[in-house]
Formats: sequence, C-alpha cells, structure tokens
Amino acid sequence: MWSVSIVFRQLWKSQAVNRSRLYSTSTRCGTKFKYKERVDIPAQTTALLAGRKWLPGALSAGSKYPTYVASPRDNFPALYTVNSPSTGSTPIGDFAKDAREIIEGDLHIYGAILFRGLPLQGGDDFSMFVRSMDYSLIGYEGGTAVRHKVAADVLTASNDPPEYSIEPHNEMAYSDHYPMKVFFFCDVAALPGHGGESVITDVREVVKKLDPEVVDKARKLGIRYCRHLPTRTPGGYTSWQEGFFTEDRADVEKYMVEHKRAYRWESDGALTYWYNLPAFVTHPKTGEDVWFNQYHSHHATYFKDHPLWAHLDIPDDRYPFHCYYGDGSEVEEEVLQHIRDVLWEVSVGFQMKRGDLLALDNIYVQHSRLGFKGKRKLLVSLSMD
Ligand SMILES: [Fe+2]
Repeated sequence: MWSVSIVFRQLWKSQAVNRSRLYSTSTRCGTKFKYKERVDIPAQTTALLAGRKWLPGALSAGSKYPTYVASPRDNFPALYTVNSPSTGSTPIGDFAKDAREIIEGDLHIYGAILFRGLPLQGGDDFSMFVRSMDYSLIGYEGGTAVRHKVAADVLTASNDPPEYSIEPHNEMAYSDHYPMKVFFFCDVAALPGHGGESVITDVREVVKKLDPEVVDKARKLGIRYCRHLPTRTPGGYTSWQEGFFTEDRADVEKYMVEHKRAYRWESDGALTYWYNLPAFVTHPKTGEDVWFNQYHSHHATYFKDHPLWAHLDIPDDRYPFHCYYGDGSEVEEEVLQHIRDVLWEVSVGFQMKRGDLLALDNIYVQHSRLGFKGKRKLLVSLSMD
C-alpha cells in the first residue's frame, strides 16, 4: 500500500510539470504584491547559445546547444509585481514580510519567483530587505567565485569578466554547506541588446532528459571536488585569501578540519584540497531526491573557454577547481557535453530590471548568466533555510 509520503510525491510530481494550472487556483498573494498571470518578459531572440564564444561547451564538437536561450514559460519564474498603492512610504520590512509569505508558500513549487517593482535603491536597501525576511543568511567562505562584500549579508553576484557566460549551477553544490535559497537583486540592469540575460534551470526537468546510465553512474560513484587556490592568482581568479576572506592560514586550516577536507599547502604557497560528496540530495521540504552536483561547472573544462584562462596550458588539477567521479576516475568528455546540452535545452533566460529581486529554491533551480557588454551589476544574498 502506498504511504502518505509516496502519494504526496506522486501528486507533487504532477504539480511540478504544470505550474500554470496550479497558479490559477493559488490564493497565496501578499497584500503588497499581485501575481501576474502571464510573465511579461520579452522573448530572447538575440541571446545566442550555439557557437557562442566564452561559453563552455558551445564550441565543442557534437555540441547540441539550442541556437538561442528559451524565454520564460509556465510560471518559471513566477512573477509578482508590487501593488502601486503599496509603494510610497511603506517600510521595506513590510514588503519583506509579505515576500517571505509568498516564498514560504510557493518557492518549493515554482522554483523561482521574481519580485518586480520593489522600492529598493541599491545594496543597503537589498540588505535591509533580505535581513527583514528573517532567514538565516550566510557568508561565502570556501566559495569558488570572486565576490566582494557590498553590504551586510550582500555580495556581488560575480566578478567574472563580462564577456564570459557562466554555466547553470546550483549555488555551492560543490559544498556540503550550501544555501537553500538564493536571492539576486538587480542593482544595475544591462542595456537593451547588450546581453547579460539571467538564466534559470529547473533540475527536475534536467534529470528527466539525462541518459539514465549517466544518472545511475553519478548516483553510484558520487563526485570528488578538488580546489587549487594560489596564494595570489596570476589570472585574477580566486586566491585562498579571497576564497576564505582571511590572510591567516590558521583560519583556513580550521575550516578544513571542521569540514573534513583533505588538504595540503603547496611549496609555492598555494592551497589544494579535496573531498567527496553525493551527486543527489534530499529536498528538505518535499523529500524529493534531487540531482545536485557540479560535474560540469566544477570541472577544469569550465576554464578552457574562459577569457582569463583559455590561453594557459596547465594540468587539469592546477586550475582553480576540477572534479572526478568519487572513485577518482575522470568524468568522460561526452558525459560533460551531454550534461551541458541538457542544461541549456531546458534553461530559460530573461533580462532583470533595476530593482528586481529573484528568489530561487537552490535545490531545484540552477542559475547562470550570459555574457554582456557595458555595465550590469547583480547582488546576491544566500540563506540556509
Ligand atoms: Fe552562482
């Protein structure tokens, strides 16, 4: 006989593939926000994927990337706009309270919710907003991207060169201390026609399209993540001082012990460390077993189409990060390409506007951004609950 949880999961699966139907009956709508029945985000006819420069896997032989990134669909992301009578003198904390209610009710269903029209004017306001939502916000110690602190619990989203297109990934899936939610805030929007689309990817759709043999092998072997952080990176990528927000080796060693990492200090002052993690995690709210790993985006091939690294000829384990199957064997080239192909096949992209706040369920949804020209600035905040 089916248990209650199995029945729930079957129901859950049917819900997950039909966001439109669900939303038509949703009553969850904060007083400061109104749900938009259709996402009025324009189609992305110019956001090229196939053959795109500085996008890992796009120029590989056999790449099956779609020509363009798809537009948002089926309430992905679900869109809430601020009720105009609610703006004006309404305190930021009041918006945050209502946003939290929406997020708690619906984020695990839709995976991504976009709040548009918030009266937030930069990093300090964004900080006040996320802190007012009363989540357990975390820092970024041990993270792989180059980020700088902007305000309390707020960092720059990425300092990668603007022309580089970042691949879809769950935030810190390479760690066992990963956030449950990711909040992006658009401080400076890219100009029209200048790229910089924000991209989101629902892994529930991804895993359905992956070759079952790839999925089974990943489940069986897990993944070994390796990091190599020079004392100061010649290419401008993350040094251990930047990665751990310290100049003191003792702080790093404390982290290694606490997180059960194997590590060594290299003779040139670099830090190397490694550890194994499973390729799947259990969603804490739904109990669903979810593909949650970075075989592709924690692999040395990430750097081989990167403007700061492509000219170098160094062993894979000397790049800032690399990974293997959990038994130490290399992940096959065709498997990496297959994962990338599927990710881009199901991804959707759109332009964030200034003041937009995008809330993501970090277990179900990956994020990325396409390269851009000119100015564009997104900020990020991470929560453990
Ligand atoms: Fe990220």
